[in-house]
Amino acid sequence: MCGIVGFVGKHQAAPILLDGLARLEYRGYDSAGLAIRNGEEPAEVVKSKGRLKILAEKTDNGNSLVGNCGIGHTRWATHGEPSKTNAHPHVSGNCTGSGSGEVESEVVGVHNGIIENFKELKEKLLKHGYAFYSQTDTEVVVKLVDYYYKKYNTDPADAIAKTMVRVRGSYALCMMFKSHPGEIWVARKDSPMIIGVSNGETFVASDVPAILKYTRNVYYIGNMEIARLTPGEVTFFNLDGDVIEKKLTEIKWDAKSAEKGGFEHFMMKEIHEQPKAVSDTIASVVKDGRIELENIGLDEEAIKNISHIYIVACGSAYHTGVVTQYVIEDLAKIPVRVELASEFRYRKPLLDKNGLVIVVSQSGETADTLAALRLAKEKGIKTLAIVNVVGSSIAREADNVFYTLAGPEIAVATTKAYSTQLIAGYLLAIQFALVRGQIDEEKYSLLITELGTIPKKIEKILEDKERIQWFVAKQANAQDVFFIGRGIDYAVCLEGSLKMKEISYVHSEAYAAGELKHGTISLIEDGTLVIGVLTQGELYEKTVSNMVEVKSRGAYLMGLTSYGHYEIEDTANFTVYIPKTDEHFSASLSVIPLQLMGYYLSVSRGLDVDKPRNLAKSVTVE
Ligand code: AGP
Repeated sequence: MCGIVGFVGKHQAAPILLDGLARLEYRGYDSAGLAIRNGEEPAEVVKSKGRLKILAEKTDNGNSLVGNCGIGHTRWATHGEPSKTNAHPHVSGNCTGSGSGEVESEVVGVHNGIIENFKELKEKLLKHGYAFYSQTDTEVVVKLVDYYYKKYNTDPADAIAKTMVRVRGSYALCMMFKSHPGEIWVARKDSPMIIGVSNGETFVASDVPAILKYTRNVYYIGNMEIARLTPGEVTFFNLDGDVIEKKLTEIKWDAKSAEKGGFEHFMMKEIHEQPKAVSDTIASVVKDGRIELENIGLDEEAIKNISHIYIVACGSAYHTGVVTQYVIEDLAKIPVRVELASEFRYRKPLLDKNGLVIVVSQSGETADTLAALRLAKEKGIKTLAIVNVVGSSIAREADNVFYTLAGPEIAVATTKAYSTQLIAGYLLAIQFALVRGQIDEEKYSLLITELGTIPKKIEKILEDKERIQWFVAKQANAQDVFFIGRGIDYAVCLEGSLKMKEISYVHSEAYAAGELKHGTISLIEDGTLVIGVLTQGELYEKTVSNMVEVKSRGAYLMGLTSYGHYEIEDTANFTVYIPKTDEHFSASLSVIPLQLMGYYLSVSRGLDVDKPRNLAKSVTVE
């Protein structure tokens, strides 16, 4: 989604803004722009279509834009095609492209989100003599702020508040007013935005990595709140214009964690960070061999009272929910339903009042997941969020939060966050199983001990990554790939297939192996790559049979199984082995070769691994 960065302080703003925007590139974008103010001078606006480097070249890396106060934006088009005209910042005057519109404009602003009633507001403004140069909803908001500012001859906080009352939708807005030099004004509803301060300077951004290099001290601006940023100071207001006090929070992530650290791509770096991310997440709740969940509202009584569990999420986070469903139902014997957040929020779900809704999200900002969480809360159901980004909207709104400790995840394709979400699911399942009398102390200890071995086992798989690279190099021209498995293996197939699709642009499908015969098998042709995942003892033979069925129809087979199942080589053309583990945890290991396959296929096809086309890291709009 769009990325926003703002800065006011002692240094030249434009290079800082460009650096911050570059760190938000993973959010996806199609154009970019800056607005810089030099003292009392009106804002200078520069925009360009395409990659950020075009804007950087145009401005000599920001050095040609003089001024210590500015806002920047990378746009991911929602209203209006990607173009220089539709790129942000937008101005309240008539943007002629010659710069005169910018000079006359009182308000200049950037926006992330969607204004749902922008057409109606545009009509209103047209009647009041405003002219529009772009197709964006953002231009409408900027002009509406200008309208209220002038109509009521008021201050920015009041003009913004009046605008917020009129607009429907989601937004993180960042604006400068010509008559208020040295100030940046921001407002937020349902779109992420954080404000950082350090040494007499103030930063605002859509996400932490943009400002981590400069400060780790941040304020979280709440929904329907406004803030004025001046050098080193921030004042927060509510819609009535009352000042709100906020506490400064220290972000624990260190700046290096948002750098590539010698790897060619963030995705490969993050794949290698999985052992640490997994072990940190385990250590966050396992103390002296016991899982402690009291801090997240799950004491013994609360656990015993859970009648149903509803896991709600999107994309890969949903896939971890599918794994967790198998594990919780098998270990703790609690009925679990897993739902896509985009479906859950509109299907009027019937939820048991003693149920627990678990939402899973790396970013904590996914619009559908946030809406699902709010729906569950409205219905009075207890909510738990498994979230990676501290202070994100979902983290703030859920009744309780289980933080995964993956650190910043930059690559669009999730790897380490996925792995830590699995761990969170296992930990809940093990504790629920013990408290509800489904496993004894001995089994409990065994499971926790086994969980502790996962990081080393992931490392072992990574040591052999070149073998997967070699195999993938031979598959670089694959057109269609099928992933088949049963139970937890099927859940992993969903993730393996998504990894392949999103970064390699190769059509792939995950199929429950037993379903193939019900239609999909007709797609198998000579040489079609079919990857069978077989880590579940009871289901092993059944999946082998399905692999044999597709092989007899021409499929080229890859088997992914645990060491010891060497007979798979009688069936598969190529086999990848993973270390043995408790079968409940096998997804944590079997997913690693599949992540590597997606990665290497993308590299071999010369694609942009970290920033795949059309995709954004955090999907903050519907
Ligand atoms: C996975 O690689 C994708 N980036 C995507 O499916 C992602 O998992 C999904 O958009 C959910 O994001 P979240 O975890 O931030 O809510």
